[in-house]
Amino acid sequence: MCRHSIAASSSNPDREVLPTNVKPLHYDLTLEPLFDTFRFDGTVEITLQVNENTDEIVLNSTEIDIHSAHILDVEADKITFDEDAQTATFKFKDTLVAGSQTTLKIVFTGELNNMAGFYRSSYQEDGKTKYLATTQMEPTDCRRAFPSFDEPALKATFSITLIADKDLVCLSNMDEKETTILESGKKQVLFNKTPLMSTYLVAFIVGDLKYVENNDFRVPIKVYATPGSEHLGEYSADIAAKTLAFFEKKFDIEYPLPKCDMVAIHDFSAGAMENFGLITYRTVDLLLDTKTSNINTKQRVTEVVMHELAHQWFGNLVTMDFWDGLWLNEGFATWMSWYACDSLYPDWKVWESYVSDSLQHALTLDALRASHPIEVPVKRADEINQIFDAISYSKGSSLLKMISRWLGEDVFIKGVSNYLKKHMWGNTQTSDLWEALSDVSGKDVVKVMDIWTKNIGYPIVSVKESEGKLIVSQNRFLATGDATAEEDKILYPVFLGLKTSKGLDESLVLDTRTKEFETSTTDDFFKINGDQAGIFRTAYEPARWAKLGQAGVDGKLSVEDRVGLVADAGALASSGYISTTDFLNLVKSWSNESNYVVWDEILSRIGNVKAALIFESDDIRVALNRFIVDLLGDKLKSVGWTFSDSDSFAEQQLKSSLFAFAVAAGHEEAGAFAEKSYADYIGGNKDAIHPNLRTTIFNHAAKTGDEKTFDQLFKIYQNPSSVDEKITALRSLGRFTQPEILDKVTGLLLNSDVVKQQDIYIPMQGLRATRVGIETLWSWVQTNWDTLFEVLPPGLSMLSTVVSLSTSGFTKKEQRAQVEEFFKSKNTKGYDQGLAQSLDVIKAKGNWAERDATKISEWLASNGYSK
Ligand code: BES
Ligand code: ZN
Repeated sequence: MCRHSIAASSSNPDREVLPTNVKPLHYDLTLEPLFDTFRFDGTVEITLQVNENTDEIVLNSTEIDIHSAHILDVEADKITFDEDAQTATFKFKDTLVAGSQTTLKIVFTGELNNMAGFYRSSYQEDGKTKYLATTQMEPTDCRRAFPSFDEPALKATFSITLIADKDLVCLSNMDEKETTILESGKKQVLFNKTPLMSTYLVAFIVGDLKYVENNDFRVPIKVYATPGSEHLGEYSADIAAKTLAFFEKKFDIEYPLPKCDMVAIHDFSAGAMENFGLITYRTVDLLLDTKTSNINTKQRVTEVVMHELAHQWFGNLVTMDFWDGLWLNEGFATWMSWYACDSLYPDWKVWESYVSDSLQHALTLDALRASHPIEVPVKRADEINQIFDAISYSKGSSLLKMISRWLGEDVFIKGVSNYLKKHMWGNTQTSDLWEALSDVSGKDVVKVMDIWTKNIGYPIVSVKESEGKLIVSQNRFLATGDATAEEDKILYPVFLGLKTSKGLDESLVLDTRTKEFETSTTDDFFKINGDQAGIFRTAYEPARWAKLGQAGVDGKLSVEDRVGLVADAGALASSGYISTTDFLNLVKSWSNESNYVVWDEILSRIGNVKAALIFESDDIRVALNRFIVDLLGDKLKSVGWTFSDSDSFAEQQLKSSLFAFAVAAGHEEAGAFAEKSYADYIGGNKDAIHPNLRTTIFNHAAKTGDEKTFDQLFKIYQNPSSVDEKITALRSLGRFTQPEILDKVTGLLLNSDVVKQQDIYIPMQGLRATRVGIETLWSWVQTNWDTLFEVLPPGLSMLSTVVSLSTSGFTKKEQRAQVEEFFKSKNTKGYDQGLAQSLDVIKAKGNWAERDATKISEWLASNGYSK
C-alpha cells in the first residue's frame, strides 16, 4: 500500500509521479459550464485497473471542490488534499483487490477562470461582452478541469458529455454521438469514445460558434470562430487539408480521428494547442484576412497550423513518456512544420530562413549558463512550464535537421515512420527514436546523439590554418565568453561540413578536442559548417573572415552559408571571441547582398550592437545609424518600397525588411514616406499603408509622435480593420518616447478591459526598443509586482515572459544588481529560469559594451560615419 501521495518513479527517482497501485483505463466525464457564476459542475467516473491490494487512491486535482467520491455505492471514508503536490487522496474502508477493475465516481465543481483548465474566454458582440468556455490542459492543468491521473504516460479512453444551452455549440476531441434534450430545456451532447490518449490532450468547448468547412481531405476539417469572423478561417482550413494529406503520405499512417476541428479563442495563453482532434488557437494565429494581412502573418499562420497538425502524430499518437522528453513533441513538430511548409510553398525557401530563425534562437539561448539540456529532468508543474522554450523547440528541431542531413532525408523519414508505427497509441523515450533511426540507417545514432541531448550548450569550433592543413578544435561557447575548464569538458561529435570549391565534404567529424585535416584547396576558399547544418559556431583567424566576406560577394556561398557567417561573426563579436570591428568589416562588404534572409541577419546583428550600446552616449548610436543607412541605401533604392502583384515572396520580404531597418535608422526619404502614408491613412485613405509596411509605419509614427498620435493609434487598436492591424497598433504604443505618454501605456497593461491579459506582453515588446521605454517598463513592473504575480499565476508562462521583457533590455552592472536585488526577496517559482537567463544576457551585453564601445566608435569615425 502506498503511504505517500507522491511516489518516486522507479525509472527516474527525481520524478514526482502518482503511485502505481491503480491505473486509469477509461473516463466517463460530464461537464456543465455555468456562465452566470463562472463555475462548472462535473461528474467523472474513472474505470481503474487495480494493480496492488490497496485502500487508497491518489490522483491529481487542484482548485476543484470535490463534493463526493464513491466506489460502487461506497463513499470514500476520507478525502485529503495536498495543494503543493496538486493531489487528492481517497481513503476507503474496503480493500481493492489486485487484478480487479473498479470505478471511482467523483462529483465536483470548479471555477471557469484564467486561461488554464476549463476556463472562460470573453469577447465583444454588438457592444456586449459575451463568453465561451474552453480548455487548456497542457502541461498539467487537466487537474483543474476534472480530477484525473494527469501524467502523459497514463493514457486512457474518454467518453465526454457536455451540457449547455440549446443554441450553443459543443465540441470535444471526438465527433458527436448523440444529443438529448433534458427536462431543464438544456441539451446534453455525448461524444464518441476517444482512442487511448493522454490527459493533457483532452479538450472541450461550449460557445456561440460558427464555422467554415473544408472537405478536400479524407476527413472533414472545420474552422470555428465567434460569429462574423468564421470566413477568415478559410485559409487555415485549406492549409490544414493539404498538410494532413502530406503527413499521411510521409508517415504512411492515417490521421487517426474521424474529424479535425480548429477553433479561434479570444483568450489564449500560448499561440496554439494541439488537442487531439480539437486544436485551439489564439485568434491571430488561425484567422487570416488574405487581402489585408502582411506576408509574415500569413507565414506565421501557416507555420502554426502545420506545427499543431504534426503533433497529431508526434505527441498525440505517440507521446513522450514524461515531460523530460518534451523535445520529442516540440522539436519534432517544429521540424515537421518547416518540412511541410517547404513542400507546400517551395518558393518561400523556408530552409534558408531556418538558419536565421530557429537555429539562431537555439544558439542564442543555449549560449547562456542558465540554459538546459534538450532532455532535462523536470518534476513539478512550475518547472515543466519553463521548458517550452527555444531549447525544446529550436535546439530540438536543429538536432533533427542535423540527423536528417546525416542519414539522408528519405532514410530519416522512413525511420520516423517506423518509430511512429511501432509506438502508436503508446509512450516513448528518446532512446526509442534513436533505435528506430539506427535500425533504418545502420548507423550508431545513439552514440552520436546522446551527447547532444543530454548536455547543455554547444561548441565553438576554432580553425587555424597552417601550410595546407586545418587545425580545428572545439570548446564550450558562452555568450559571456568565459567558460571555465569545468564547464568545458564535453567533447561533441561535430560534423564539420567542409565546403571548398570542389563541393561539400560531409564526412569529417571532430570528436576530440583538436584534430588536423589536410586541405587541398587550390583557390584558397573554404568554409566550415557548409550550409550551416550543424549546431555550433565557427571562429576563423582574422584574415579568413575577410576572405570569406569576399567569397560571399563572389557567389561561392549559399544563402545558409552567408546567414550563418554573419550570425557567427555577430555572436562571436558580442561574446569577445573576435573584435566587433571584424564583424562590421564583414557586413560592410556585403552592401550588394540580394537575399532578404541575409539582410535580416545583418541588420538584426547590427541591431544587437545598438542594443548593447543603448545606455552609452548618443553619438555612437547616431553614427551606427548612419552606417546602416549607408549600408542598405543602394539596395533600398534599387528595390524601392512599393509592392506589385507580381512580386515574389522573397521580393516582398526584401522590400519590407529594408524599409523597416531604413526608417528605424533615420533614412530620410523612407522616413518621409512613412510619415506621409501615416498622415494619409489617418486622413481616411484606408489604402495608404501597404500591410507589409504597417508595422514600420505605426512604429515610426509613435516614435516621432505626441499625445494626438497616441490617441490615433489607440483608436486604431480599439477599432481596427483587421486582427493584424490591432496587434500592430498595440505593439506600436510602446514606441512613444515621451515619459507622460509611456505612463499612459503602462497604465493600460493591467486594465483587462482594454488589454487582454494574453496580450500584456505586446506593448512591452515595443517598450524594449528605447532607453526610456526600458526604464519605464522596469519601474512599472516593480511598482505593480504584487498584482502581476497575482493575475499571471506562475503556472502560466506569461509571468516569465514579463520578467524577461522587463529586465533583459538592461546592459549595465548597476542595473543588473538592481534587478537581482529586487527579486532576492521574491518567490521566483515559475520564472527562475527566465530570470537567470535575463541576468546572463545583461552581463554579456555589459561586457561587450565595456570591451568594444571605444573600438566601435573609432571604426565608425575612420569609416566616415561620425559627425
Ligand atoms: N504544445 C504547444 C502549446 C503549449 C505551449 C502548451 C506552452 C503549453 C505550454 C503547441 O504545440 C505549440 O508549440 N504552440 C506554439 C506555436 C508553434 C508554431 C511554435 C505556440 O504556442 O507559440
Ligand atoms: Zn508544439
